[in-house]
Amino acid sequence: MLVQNGLMKLFKAVARECVGCDFCKLFIKCGFLETLTEREKREYCVGCGACVAACPYEARQLIELSEDELRGVREVTVRIDGEKYSVPERITVLRALEVAGYKISKFPEWGDERTIFAPCGTGGCFSCAVIIDGKLQPSCITPVRDGMEITAERSEIEKELPLRIVSSFQGHAAGGVGTPYQIKPKSFLRAIEVACFAHGCVLRCPTCQNWTVVYSSVDEPLTPSQAAKLLTYERRRYRVDRLAISGGESTLNRRWLVSFLKELKKLNKDGKARLHVDTNAVILTEDYIDELCEAGMTDIGPDVKGLSLETFMRITGIEDEELAKRLKDTEWRAVKYLLDEYFDKIFVGVGIPYNPALISLEEVYKMGERLASWEPSVQVCVLDYRPEFRRRDIRKPNYEEMLKVKRILEESGLECVICQTEFGFVGP
Ligand code: FES
Repeated sequence: MLVQNGLMKLFKAVARECVGCDFCKLFIKCGFLETLTEREKREYCVGCGACVAACPYEARQLIELSEDELRGVREVTVRIDGEKYSVPERITVLRALEVAGYKISKFPEWGDERTIFAPCGTGGCFSCAVIIDGKLQPSCITPVRDGMEITAERSEIEKELPLRIVSSFQGHAAGGVGTPYQIKPKSFLRAIEVACFAHGCVLRCPTCQNWTVVYSSVDEPLTPSQAAKLLTYERRRYRVDRLAISGGESTLNRRWLVSFLKELKKLNKDGKARLHVDTNAVILTEDYIDELCEAGMTDIGPDVKGLSLETFMRITGIEDEELAKRLKDTEWRAVKYLLDEYFDKIFVGVGIPYNPALISLEEVYKMGERLASWEPSVQVCVLDYRPEFRRRDIRKPNYEEMLKVKRILEESGLECVICQTEFGFVGP
């Protein structure tokens, strides 16, 4: 099958007002074209957009190739699931898969073999990984090459061990929203759990607090077993019983996460280990929650990032209204399901963001009311969103403001409200 350039829009990333922070050069696996010079790599841009999503100064943008540039683009031949396709050389494998009839989605269609779930688009989560020349690689950032063999059939991919980039295995002093208040430390001098951070996220939060992990794709991916061994080693080193995975978004690569929890359970059989999943819950469907609990999850900290669609879109940076609605509805449904079905079986703590530039106190109150109507005793942790990433213009809420948010949430009917403040956590 031949796909003419003219039928397909081609893009490249350009830097408009680059300040030279070099994040995109140092932390993004650009093009996999190791043999080319940095300059040539940039000229060979396949328009995956990973550097555009990651640029903290929003200097990088995707633009369409000019007619002149389009004329210079050659066709290459790739084989997808055994069938030959001619495609423009300057596209990613993911776009080639679209040409071959696969549907690409930012929301998981679990069980649909012809849909490729590509949530992060930045090479970290490996949800979109297919077999490229015999090796599992993320299709979203890998350029096509002449003669490339691509296998995207689910049954073949599932014969491979799942992979994901996970980093920063370390002791953690503060815990997450899914850490019970009783064990949160009064000072942050001692670790209370060990944590690792999964790369890639479906959201594009302008205030992302962990963007260097979310958008980085240069580390080697790990199998669930490799990651579980590293985290278990850290548990012994820090002498704690809690093992957490955060991110990025930990739930993006379902097969990887379920297998990781099973491996952790196998390696930590002493009966004291708590397996904690920190998540924005935006793709956490009910069957996925069941599977995580069966695999060994004992603690979960889902976030809810707004009640109105407008607030959710402002906080998450998701511009596609339909996708935003789906993600928002899923996170609230996940919280309700956890409270209805698992509240007496595992620990559930819910996170709410607060910064006056992002969400009003009225909306925070309404979120509290909704949660209290489902389960008044659920632990709710309010996070003071600080200036970060693309919103360095906002001011971090001060101690008094956070106490006010706490009071408002208690008035809404919640019995266990924690606030993260500039001076540490303030509890119920
Ligand atoms: S969507 Fe490709 S690595 Fe996450």
